[in-house]
Amino acid sequence: MGTSVVVLAAGKGTRMRTDRPKSLHSVAGRTLLAWALDIASALDPEETSIVIGHDADTVARSCPPDASVVIQEPQLGTGHAVQVGLDGLTNLETTVVIIPGDMPLISKASISKLVATHRKDENAATVMTVELEDPTGYGRIVRADNAVTAIVEERDCSDDERTIEEVNTSVYAFSGSLLKAALENVTTNNDQGEYYLTDVIGILVAQGHRVGAVVVPSVEGTGVNTQRQLADVGAVLRDRINNALMDGGVSMVDPSSTYIDADVQVDPGATILPSTMLTGSTSVASGAVVGPNVEAHDSVIGTDARVRYAVLDRARVGSKASVGPYAYLRPGAVLEDGAKAGTYVEIKASVVGRNSKVPHLSYIGDTEIGEDTNIGAATVTVNYDGFTKHKTKIGDRVRIGSDTMLVAPVEIGDDAYTGAGSVITHDVPGGALGVERSAQRNIEGYADKHRKRSEEKAD
Ligand code: UD1
Ligand code: CA
Repeated sequence: MGTSVVVLAAGKGTRMRTDRPKSLHSVAGRTLLAWALDIASALDPEETSIVIGHDADTVARSCPPDASVVIQEPQLGTGHAVQVGLDGLTNLETTVVIIPGDMPLISKASISKLVATHRKDENAATVMTVELEDPTGYGRIVRADNAVTAIVEERDCSDDERTIEEVNTSVYAFSGSLLKAALENVTTNNDQGEYYLTDVIGILVAQGHRVGAVVVPSVEGTGVNTQRQLADVGAVLRDRINNALMDGGVSMVDPSSTYIDADVQVDPGATILPSTMLTGSTSVASGAVVGPNVEAHDSVIGTDARVRYAVLDRARVGSKASVGPYAYLRPGAVLEDGAKAGTYVEIKASVVGRNSKVPHLSYIGDTEIGEDTNIGAATVTVNYDGFTKHKTKIGDRVRIGSDTMLVAPVEIGDDAYTGAGSVITHDVPGGALGVERSAQRNIEGYADKHRKRSEEKAD
C-alpha cells in the first residue's frame, strides 16, 4: 500500500504579527511549507494534498505543481481541515500521513519510523508523540496497556489527564479509508466548538481498531507560532545543517557563527571561516576557503577559491580565483579561473577572464575582460549615461592604467595600454597606448609667491 500526505497550512499565524501567512515564513532558507514538503518527501508519497485558507492566493503560488491544493474556508478545526484535505486525494486506499505546516523540526527518520510502525503493527492510526515536562496547551495521549485510547485537548482534560506528559504532535499516519469514515462522526461538541481531528482517535478505538504511538525526541514536536519560535527552530536547523556538512568533510572554525541554508551545497574539503552566511542555492567547491565575514547568495564558488570579507549575489567565482577583502560581486559577476577582485572592488554583469585582476578600488559594470589583463587601481567603467547602460570590452594582456575612466561603449584591444588618469572615450586598438591628459606644467617658486600674496591680503 502506498502513502499519501496531507499538509495543514490553512492557519493565519496571528501570533507571528506579520501580514504574511505563517506557512510562508522562511527559516534556514526554506519556507515552513517547503520544510513540510521536504519532510513528506522522505515518504515518497503517491499524492500530496495541501490545505490552505488564510491568504490562499499567495500560498497557492508557493505550492508545487504536482501537489493538489485545496482551500479550507471557513476554518472549522483540524478535523475539518483534514476532511477538506482528503478531497484533494484521488486514492484513499493508502496510508494517509498528516503533517502540520508549522513543524520544520520533524526528522525524516521519525516520519519514516511513524509509517513503518503503523504498517508493522497494522494500526488504524499511529500518532507521533513527544514527552514534555510542561505539557500545557497540548493534546494529552491517553493510553491503556500501551495502546492509545484517546487524545484529550488541554481544555477538555480531567485533572488526572492534565498530568499526562505524553502529548500529540499533530503528526499522524492513518488508514485513509478508516480516517475518511471516522471524520463523518466528528462533532463540534467540545470547549472550542471546533471539529477536532483528535476525536478520530477515540472514534477508531470505539470501533475496535488499534491505535499506536511513536515517541520522538521532544525537540521535533516544536511548532512555530511566534517569531521567537521561528528563531529557535532556525538555530536547531542550522546546527543540523552544519553538523551534516562537518560529518561530510567540511571544515568549520566556528559553527555557531556559520549560517548555511538548507539548499546550499558545500563540498568536502572546503573551509568555512567565522561570520559567514551562505544562502539560497550557493555552492562551494572543495579546497575553497570562504570567510571570515562573507555573505554569498545564489552564488558559485569554485575549487581552491579564496573569498573573504565580501558580499556575493548571484556571482560566479572560478577555481583558484580570489575575492576581497572588501569586494562586492553583484548579479552576473563572473571571475574566471585564477581571476581576482580585490579590495573595494564592485563588479556587476561582467566577466573577468582567466588570471585577470581587478585588485583595488574599482567599479566594473557591463564589461567583458579577456585573459591575463590587469586593471589599475581606481579604474571605473562609466557604463551609465543616465538613460541606458553601455558595454565595455577589454582584450587579453591589457594594462589599464590607474584611475582610467572607460566611458562606454568602448573597446580596448589585446595587449593595449591606457595611461593613468585618462578618460577614454574612443576605442584603443590592439597594442596601442590610449592616453588622454594635458601636458604637465611645473610653476617654479609657486609656494613662496602664494604665501606672499596671502600675507598681503591679510594686512
Ligand atoms: C493541535 C492538536 C493537539 C496537539 C497540537 C500540537 C487538535 C484538536 N489538537 O492543537 O492535540 O497537541 O496541535 O501542536 O487537533 N489548521 C488548519 N485548519 C483549521 C485548524 C487548524 O489548517 O481549521 C492547521 C493549522 O494551520 C496548524 C495545524 O492545523 O498547522 C494545527 O492547528 P492548531 O490550531 O495549531 O492546533 P492546536 O490547537 O495547536
Ligand atoms: Ca499548534
